[in-house]
This record gives sequence, structure tokens and C-alpha cells, in this order.
Amino acid sequence: MKRLRRLRQNEIIRDLVKETRLSVKDFIYPIFVADGENIKTPVESMPNVYQYSIDRLSEILDKVRESKITGVIIFGIPKAEEKDELATQAYAENGVTQRAVRYIKSNYPEIYCVVDVCLCEYTSHGHCGMVKDGEILNDETLPLLSKMAVSLVKAGADMVAPSDMMDGRIRAIRRALDEAGYINTPIMAYSAKFASAYYGPFRDAAQSAPCFGDRRSYQMDFANGKEALREIESDIEGGADIVMVKPALAYLDVLKEAVSLYNIPFAVYNVSGEYSMVKAAAAQGWIDEKRIVEENLIAMKRAGAKIIITYHALDMAKWLSEKIN
Ligand code: PBG
Ligand code: ZN
Repeated sequence: MKRLRRLRQNEIIRDLVKETRLSVKDFIYPIFVADGENIKTPVESMPNVYQYSIDRLSEILDKVRESKITGVIIFGIPKAEEKDELATQAYAENGVTQRAVRYIKSNYPEIYCVVDVCLCEYTSHGHCGMVKDGEILNDETLPLLSKMAVSLVKAGADMVAPSDMMDGRIRAIRRALDEAGYINTPIMAYSAKFASAYYGPFRDAAQSAPCFGDRRSYQMDFANGKEALREIESDIEGGADIVMVKPALAYLDVLKEAVSLYNIPFAVYNVSGEYSMVKAAAAQGWIDEKRIVEENLIAMKRAGAKIIITYHALDMAKWLSEKIN
């Protein structure tokens, strides 16, 4: 008789045949940096996530370093009165994100510093591109994204991650980086980024909710899996070094299919709403947080993700260090 239970009899044999393991090296931890002084503001809908001003950034960066997490992704939040139609602060030499990157790279040079490249945190209307007569313009947005990417790399960013979903942005950004001499800076493209209600808590955290309409004219319809493959293909052609599927859990089918088709490293973004749901249920005592988080993150890796961007990274790193898994 076929007895599959033979290999499940105890921890030792289960560990020997385990197909997927998490490592602290899989994670990128998102950090929100607000302009101003002495800020550590809790994000209401994301327990244990804060906006920090640069003068208090070491509080979280020290934890990242101690936990042995090797990478962070930075979201800058300019002052509300500095947001404008042209997203000027996105590519200002002394913008909050540029200053944050300079601070990180001079004080924590060993931390790999990824920056999110998108305009929504910097525009007065909160959209990811230029707006004219209520329309989100594509081609007019590309030079601004390119300027933003170059300016952040100049500030010291190790990698740029465009999350705007304008057509042609990867090619435009690659060209701009190359022309500026940054031929070795990789691009991690948010390629299959779906218009998702799971971003709700993030928009509180980054103060980036659109003030009219929604993002469905540029982010993808969550009903479409094949279209995600077209997005991924076009970003690879444009010069992406890593491609991303976002959100994670409801889109593991897309991830798995894409991983089987394209020979390039994949990232997933385990987004704010996914985090908040786990945290909320855990706070009620309805689920075992540690086991749920491990199960979710393993599922992402099993589906083919090499890189997991997650707000759970600090917790998971601690749990991993407590057991040799
Ligand atoms: C900016 C951006 C968003 C996220 C990452 N980059 C929000 C959005 O597109 O509205 C979402 C991340 C999260 O929910 O954790 N374009
Ligand atoms: Zn955006």
C-alpha cells in the first residue's frame, strides 16, 4: 500500500522532506517616511506600523538591522502643502524621500535600499500620473517618473520599483537611468498590479488616496489573469530585472503561471490589507498569528516568489530566529 504518512511521522523526517523554507533573506520590509520632525505616527489600520520622520528613522532601521533583514522599500510622504499637480517633491533634490535615502545609505550602508517610484504620494490629487480634465495621462507622466527614479538613485537608492502602472514606464526609466550612467541599478517592476481594495490601509499610511475617481484606468482588473501575463511580458521587454505580482494571496495563480513562463526572478507584495486582516483577527484571538503568517508566506514562496515584500517581515524574522526551521 502506498503510505504517504511514512514521511510525516516526526519533525525530523518532516523537516528532511520539506520542499519550501522561509529565510530572513527572502524579505523586503516597507518603511514610511514622513517629512517633519520628531514623528512616530501609528498607522491606525496597520497595527505596529508607523510613519517616521528622518530624525527618528533609526528606531526602525535598528530593528531591521538586528533582525538581519537585508532590504527595505521606502515610501516618502511629503508635507501636504508641498503636494502639487506636477508632483515636484517626487524628484526634488531635497525631497523627503531623497533625504531619507541619503540618511539610510550613510548610516546603514549594508541595508539594501529599494525605493517605490510613483507619483501618488506627491500629487495634490493623489493619482499616480499627471491629470488633465479628469483624465490620467500616460505619456506625459513618463518623464516625471524617469526624473524621480534618477534623482533617487543619485541620492543612493540601490534599486527602483515603479508602481504607477503607466504603459511604457519601464523602458523610459531604464533609458533615463542608463543615460545618467546608472547602468547597474536594477528595476523591480510592479508589473501585475491589480486595482485592489487590499491597498486600503496603505493609502492611510502613505496619505495617497486619490481625491477623485479610482485607479482602475491604470491598475489591472482583478478578473484578468492573461492580461497580467501581457503586462509582465511588456515589462520584461522594457528592461525589468525583477517583476512583481501584487497583491499576493489572492493572486498566487497569476504568480505561479507567470513563474512557469518567464525566466526572471519574481517578487510578490503582501500588501497592507492582507496584513491588516491577519492582525485584526489575531488581536481578537481568533487565529494563531505566527502560524497563519508562516503559512501565508510559505504559500507565496511555494507559488514561486523569490522576494516577499511584507509588513510581517520583522515578526517573521524573530520567529525564524527562535526556531531552526
Ligand atoms: C503606490 C503604491 C501603492 C502600494 C504600493 N505602492 C498603493 C496604490 O497603488 O494605491 C500598495 C501597498 C500596500 O497596500 O501595502 N502606487
Ligand atoms: Zn501610485
